[in-house]
Amino acid sequence: MDEQAVPALEVQGLGKSYAEGRRRRVVLRDVTFAVAPGECVALLGRSGSGKSTLLNLLAGIDRPDAGAVRIMDRSITTMREPDLTLLRRRHIGFIYQFFNLVPTLTVAENLALPLELNRIPAARRRERIAELLAKVGLDGRDGAFPDQLSGGEQQRVAIARAIIHDPALVLADEPTGNLDAQTGHLVLELLSQLFRDEGHTLILVTHSREVSAIADRIFAVEDGQLTEHTEALSW
Ligand SMILES: Nc1ncnc2c1ncn2[C@@H]1O[C@H](COP(=O)(O)OP(=O)(O)O)[C@@H](O)[C@H]1O
Ligand SMILES: [Mg+2]
Repeated sequence: MDEQAVPALEVQGLGKSYAEGRRRRVVLRDVTFAVAPGECVALLGRSGSGKSTLLNLLAGIDRPDAGAVRIMDRSITTMREPDLTLLRRRHIGFIYQFFNLVPTLTVAENLALPLELNRIPAARRRERIAELLAKVGLDGRDGAFPDQLSGGEQQRVAIARAIIHDPALVLADEPTGNLDAQTGHLVLELLSQLFRDEGHTLILVTHSREVSAIADRIFAVEDGQLTEHTEALSW
């Protein structure tokens, strides 16, 4: 990582536990790492290892018990809720396993949402929506509803939605987890190409073995801790 650049994301001593009956279940302990602007970091771990919990803490959707998260050199851990909402709206994009498109809105309307929240004028919104639809290979599908699209197409819309407002940080939680292998491969390829073109910083949670081809660095999530893979993956 460039020593001069302010990290896009900086995580220091992050801890999170949940109450389980009278005990506490520790999900993350002392997680520390930093991600440079434009970097792609993959998180690999078994189901239940705390990957989604970590992403939710990074996005400020959930609050940690210990430690701090800085996004573009601003601490989100101490931020008040309205400021956090603004920061998330402007600087973070989220891609989910189950796409999470609004079913009652068309493709174009789904893509307009992040732009409307950021008060982008209608003419610019239309331009940007057309630009992104072309980039994800869905030209002319702007009037379709999500249930008229295949899973792979829905995920391509969700990817477009996550980056349409040009966020500093894109968080993807198993974006290919609900797709067949071939579709997942294409979606991953698209994601990789888009984020290189547009210069986003990407944190990618995935089970996919192909991830090593697109990630700059890979971390394993295990027993609540993050370990960086320093050698090529054995599998
Ligand atoms: N809101 C919650 N309340 C209690 N336990 C939770 C909550 N969210 C997650 N957990 C627990 O934390 C652990 C990690 O969950 P999660 O982050 O979803 O894992 P992953 O995304 O790696 O599959 C699991 O044991 C899960 O049961
Ligand atoms: Mg998860």
